[in-house]
Amino acid sequence: MKLSVIGCGYLGAVHAAAMASIGHEVVGIDVDQRKIDALSKGEAPFFEPGLQEILTAGIAAGNLRFTTDMAEAAGAKVHFVGVGTPQQKDSDAADLTYVNGAFDGLLPYLAPGDIVAGKSTVPVGTAASLAPRVSETGATLVWNPEFLREGYAVQDTVDPDRLVAGVPSGEEGEIAASVLREVYHPSVAKGTPFIVTDYATAELVKVSANAFLATKISFINAMAEIAEVTGADVTQLADAIGHDARIGRRFLGAGIGFGGGCLPKDIRAFSARAEELGRGESVAFLRQVDEINLRRRDRAVQLVVDGLGGSVYEKKVTVLGAAFKPHSDDIRDSPALDVAVRLHGLGATVTVTDPAAIENARRIHPQLTYVEDRDEAIRDADALVLVTEWDEYRRQLPPEHASSLTDGRVVVDGRNGLDAAAWRAAGWAYYGMGRP
Ligand code: UDX
Repeated sequence: MKLSVIGCGYLGAVHAAAMASIGHEVVGIDVDQRKIDALSKGEAPFFEPGLQEILTAGIAAGNLRFTTDMAEAAGAKVHFVGVGTPQQKDSDAADLTYVNGAFDGLLPYLAPGDIVAGKSTVPVGTAASLAPRVSETGATLVWNPEFLREGYAVQDTVDPDRLVAGVPSGEEGEIAASVLREVYHPSVAKGTPFIVTDYATAELVKVSANAFLATKISFINAMAEIAEVTGADVTQLADAIGHDARIGRRFLGAGIGFGGGCLPKDIRAFSARAEELGRGESVAFLRQVDEINLRRRDRAVQLVVDGLGGSVYEKKVTVLGAAFKPHSDDIRDSPALDVAVRLHGLGATVTVTDPAAIENARRIHPQLTYVEDRDEAIRDADALVLVTEWDEYRRQLPPEHASSLTDGRVVVDGRNGLDAAAWRAAGWAYYGMGRP
């Protein structure tokens, strides 16, 4: 099928390449010439495992191309819109400038019978407000949220755990849903749940999934706060409650909390939208989810200060990680960098290392020192702070090796990723999050 994908960021670039990899003829469109130039050469504009390979394959096979010219969307049967919806500068609400821009640009090229599939995460009610303009062209709007995780984006797009399509009522909606089923035929054929809803439900599925995940993380981080004043160990607690299948162990990783381009801004935008709808009290707990999350960064900083005897002034602190999570070069709302910047603000000499995100981090926080080589970064450090749980810093950094690089013996484990007993046995003062 001929498809267009409007917006070639994390979501759109992966979607375009993944759709080409399952046999569709895809054109990816973005206003950013540099991004389009890179993608056209088969270069992934960001770090995402597996993306480079499917980009190169699609371009070589001739069924994947990229352009800045919206006119090239004409002729496609389905047009996916995957532009960003960042947080507004002066409020918690989502900024819909890019969504509106994409629709304004696309509408002149739509033909009767086309499907426009919105994938961006939007405030509930957005699809209903855009639908009349799409209908005027004879095309149909569906809302088809994306649940991909960075680091696993290709896998999550090619083989999702569910597909959701918010469609208009009646025959028009049934036809649109069947076209989307065709687009996702390999997943549908293997039995992946394909859930057809109205617009509002589809939009809410996405934001409520992210709200639930954020709540789960802040729940365990709240338990970490209680563990800290009682001497309990939150990692054992998480293991024990996680065995209850109704709870589950995933997303009960206590530490410096969630960041990235989705969870933080999505829960804020959800709260803002609920308030607009007169239902702010229904999701008032999300404000606390956000507050607990941000408090954990303070806690990690405090542990470094305490570990170094009350002050970090002119101490060399090595921060292991910059990305908001491993397998990503994304530093948007990264708790790791927030901790690094705060330590720098307290007068520490901060050295940051990361296998993928240094270039991005340097652009935004040039005041920090960046060292690519992990061992070089650790050399002569007074304290180590693990903030992104890359394997390089967890499994592949034996404490004895760290001891050979520095006389410093303080390690703060912001992700509870290290073997506390092994580090203590090697003579280090180990500080975890919510652990004695
Ligand atoms: C998230 C959702 O998982 C995905 O479904 C949605 O489409 C977009 O938002 P992503 O932002 O890629 O995906 O990251 P995710 O893996 O969910 O991690 C989010 C943050 O939570 C990271 O900073 C991670 O370190 C943190 N986290 C995750 C924890 O602190 N503890 C955990 O147990 C799990």
